[in-house]
Amino acid sequence: MSQVKVAVVGYGNVGRGVIASLKNNPDMELVCVVSRSPERVKKEFSAVPVFHVSEAEKAFERSGAQVAILCGGSKDDLPKFGPQMAKLINTVDSFDNHIHIPDYFAAMDKTAKEHGHVSVISTGWDPGIFSLERTLAGAFLPGSRAYGFYGLGPAGGLSMGHSDALRTIPGVKDARQYTHAIPSAVKKVQNGENPDFAPGDMHTRECFVVLEEGADKVAVTKAIMEMPGYFAPYDTTVNFITQEELNTKYAGFPHDGLVAAAGVTGKGNPARIEYRCVWGSNPEATANVLVAHARAAARLAAEKRTGAFTILDIPASYFTTKSHDELLAHWM
Ligand SMILES: NC(=O)c1ccc[n+]([C@@H]2O[C@H](COP(=O)([O-])OP(=O)(O)OC[C@H]3O[C@@H](n4cnc5c(N)ncnc54)[C@H](OP(=O)(O)O)[C@@H]3O)[C@@H](O)[C@H]2O)c1
Repeated sequence: MSQVKVAVVGYGNVGRGVIASLKNNPDMELVCVVSRSPERVKKEFSAVPVFHVSEAEKAFERSGAQVAILCGGSKDDLPKFGPQMAKLINTVDSFDNHIHIPDYFAAMDKTAKEHGHVSVISTGWDPGIFSLERTLAGAFLPGSRAYGFYGLGPAGGLSMGHSDALRTIPGVKDARQYTHAIPSAVKKVQNGENPDFAPGDMHTRECFVVLEEGADKVAVTKAIMEMPGYFAPYDTTVNFITQEELNTKYAGFPHDGLVAAAGVTGKGNPARIEYRCVWGSNPEATANVLVAHARAAARLAAEKRTGAFTILDIPASYFTTKSHDELLAHWM
């Protein structure tokens, strides 16, 4: 297959990860970057032309891009830029606002179909490969439920969304939040109890917070503990540390997770399916998954398919450079 020309739209952690990942995929080529702040991007990166988002159409035409990997945030960026970009080019994104996936799919499907493009949505590790594993577990163990646990290692997993939420609290200068799976909850699932968990039953939250000078520790702690959805339902610990400690001891984006389902097979024999991911860098791992989906998007587009797709709709062989013969001989 000839090289797939890829545009990166949005230059943050995931955008940087995609650029790094493309270098490890010789069948893919980065041809341009599109950003709301091209001057910021150019200070860090100048290997390919960088365009302002208002010039996206020109960027794709001039660079010959076939697929744009959308690396903006799920909360505000993708709902706006997703459909805009789907008018112009085949897209791949990691929209991760789970309850809004059906609406986002519908919006992207409509636009992509109207403009003859493919839009692969909501892929990464969760949603993404964990969605696939949940679906497979549900199909192979009928009657079981598939659960997702995060932060199983001793250090837990860095939650970027919860870290962002901490940084919005007045008096917080910087912060990072680590999620920890509760071992007894994992055990219940592995025992085949198929429990009904409330949000706080599966994970605890550990916060490392740097205060602004003169900020009130008690008020900040209260604001964290009472934040609905993010911290209020959880057993949450707040640690105040210096910026230097945060930068040295809590750098990087480690994360990990487990999909687990347990049930029975035909005559009631116990059965368990588990799928585990351990990432040194969550955004780089997400980027690797996005790049494999860009390959799949190019293949779907070459078959004249249009509309929105998820990882559940794409054959696994479309993600890999390996030929069908190679897959049959060595990967089956
Ligand atoms: N499905 C999954 O498994 C999964 C996993 C991880 C993340 N995600 C999703 O990926 C999304 C992006 O994550 P991220 O960590 O890359 O977010 P991020 O670093 O905050 O970047 C998001 C956007 O913000 C802008 N930006 C970044 N740094 C900036 C800066 N210093 N100044 C001004 N603008 C800046 C960039 O857009 P411009 O270049 O246009 O300015 C960038 O595309 C998340 O919202 C999450 O939903 C999904």
